[in-house]
Amino acid sequence: MSSISAKSEPNGAEPTAVTTKGSRLSPGAPPRVTLHLGHLPSKTNMSVPYPRSPSRVDPNNPPWPAFRGYHRYSFAHATMGVRLPTILGKAIDDASRTLNEQSSEDLIIDLANCLERMDQLMVDLSGNAKLRPIIDDAEADVSLWNKEIAKYFQGKDFMNAPWLFAEAYKYRRLHECFSVSKYWKDYDVFYRQKCDTFSRSAEAVFELSMRFAEPFSHAANLSDAEKLDADRLMFLELTQVCLWGNSTDLSLLINMSEEQIKSLQSTGGDHLAATEKNILGNHLNRLWETVKSIREKTGGRVDFVLDNAGFELYCDCVYADFLIQSGLAKQIHFHGKRYPWFVSDVTRKDWEWLLNIMVYGHLFPKATEVERESLRRLGERWKQYERDGKWVYEQHPFWCTGYTFWDLHSEAPDLFLHLSRSDLVFFKGDLNHRKLTYDCHAPASTPFDVAIGPMASAAGAPRICSLRTIKSDVVVGLGDDGDLIAKKLDDDEPGWKISGKYAVVLLSDGRPGEKVRFA
Ligand code: F6P
Ligand code: MG
Repeated sequence: MSSISAKSEPNGAEPTAVTTKGSRLSPGAPPRVTLHLGHLPSKTNMSVPYPRSPSRVDPNNPPWPAFRGYHRYSFAHATMGVRLPTILGKAIDDASRTLNEQSSEDLIIDLANCLERMDQLMVDLSGNAKLRPIIDDAEADVSLWNKEIAKYFQGKDFMNAPWLFAEAYKYRRLHECFSVSKYWKDYDVFYRQKCDTFSRSAEAVFELSMRFAEPFSHAANLSDAEKLDADRLMFLELTQVCLWGNSTDLSLLINMSEEQIKSLQSTGGDHLAATEKNILGNHLNRLWETVKSIREKTGGRVDFVLDNAGFELYCDCVYADFLIQSGLAKQIHFHGKRYPWFVSDVTRKDWEWLLNIMVYGHLFPKATEVERESLRRLGERWKQYERDGKWVYEQHPFWCTGYTFWDLHSEAPDLFLHLSRSDLVFFKGDLNHRKLTYDCHAPASTPFDVAIGPMASAAGAPRICSLRTIKSDVVVGLGDDGDLIAKKLDDDEPGWKISGKYAVVLLSDGRPGEKVRFA
């Protein structure tokens, strides 16, 4: 029989319930009353109403139930238990390889210490240690990390903290292995892999460079209406190129053959037409109406919150180039990460590498002269955009924190204000989508504007477009029939949420008063 004892509060407040087990009475304390509950109804398992009301939402309690590493049904389990240790193991191999290439004793000793810290991280990760604060390594995000840990994750470990936070924390700890060193602060354990995937993408790279090296122009004698339609068709195809460029992030390519990668990267028209049916939440036409109206007003600013380096970044740039040339945007801001993040995410070094290697590199020995020239010209044009201030590369510390974008306006108000001046902000990829939607178990029919909370509703929130191939559990924005569609896919194609075969193109409604009306 269970029992609880109730103690009267001296100030006459509600009595505090205390379990009898382990409790002690201090001398002079009021006598304790023991209640025997054997005749009360047994406890029932109540279903909690979701979504939580906004005041009850916090990083440990998302609006809908969180995914956590110990949830065997979720991709969180495989990621925390298997993928992350594998990724860390490969990172250790990379740093060891670099160590073996050194000659200076100082550098070697310093890197050996980084490796020891990585080994410790491996012990913590595989042993499911508690999440400790981040060491003050002078990065601009330390206080954000430690505030979040202190407020919401004290005593939590890698498996019972929400997956999104635990996974981001692992990459922050990996960075710390190097950031506290003397000579290796900026070392990128994923850099070799990132460069390799681009050099292995020759076919798709030249498919695009051969088409876009020459500045874009309309065929002669087209009427205005025909020009507009040509712009529309090109915009829709290139949006798809940009979208599907996300299906090949390195963290999922570990076991893929060259042939599988090539087929994922296929950028031909037939392939794109066939893949549009795999866009489960599809606002492509609304997106076109939006950019068209931006052009009609003034031409404007478009932002890309980037995802992966190499081939995906290259596709993003081809798309951004078209937006500039067609007058759909006047200026583009690209937002990358300050340090290596989720294996393949873009850092400033990756950005510079891509543009410089396109112009000066010797990456593709089998390419023809014409192909190499097309890539060089494209790279030259993009570098010129940077010099002219048409393209701006930025890296705010907030992008490498464990906070979701529901907290962007409160935890990074400067960044929020900056984004609010944009006419359209593209969020690329799976992780950004998880952060937009609080990475939780929202029904697939949840409208995008509801799922992204303050990023749609906060005063000044910019119009947002998520271009994401589906590679993890959270799926929203599939429309009124979304729950049925998701259920059918669950039954017919287990694994559909992590295969990268399906995608969403979801657009928020944008600022009140500045909405484009959709038919
Ligand atoms: O580890 C899982 C994950 O975070 C998933 O979100 C996704 O599978 C991958 O890593 C990152 O994907 P992306 O590069 O598209 O954000
Ligand atoms: Mg990524």
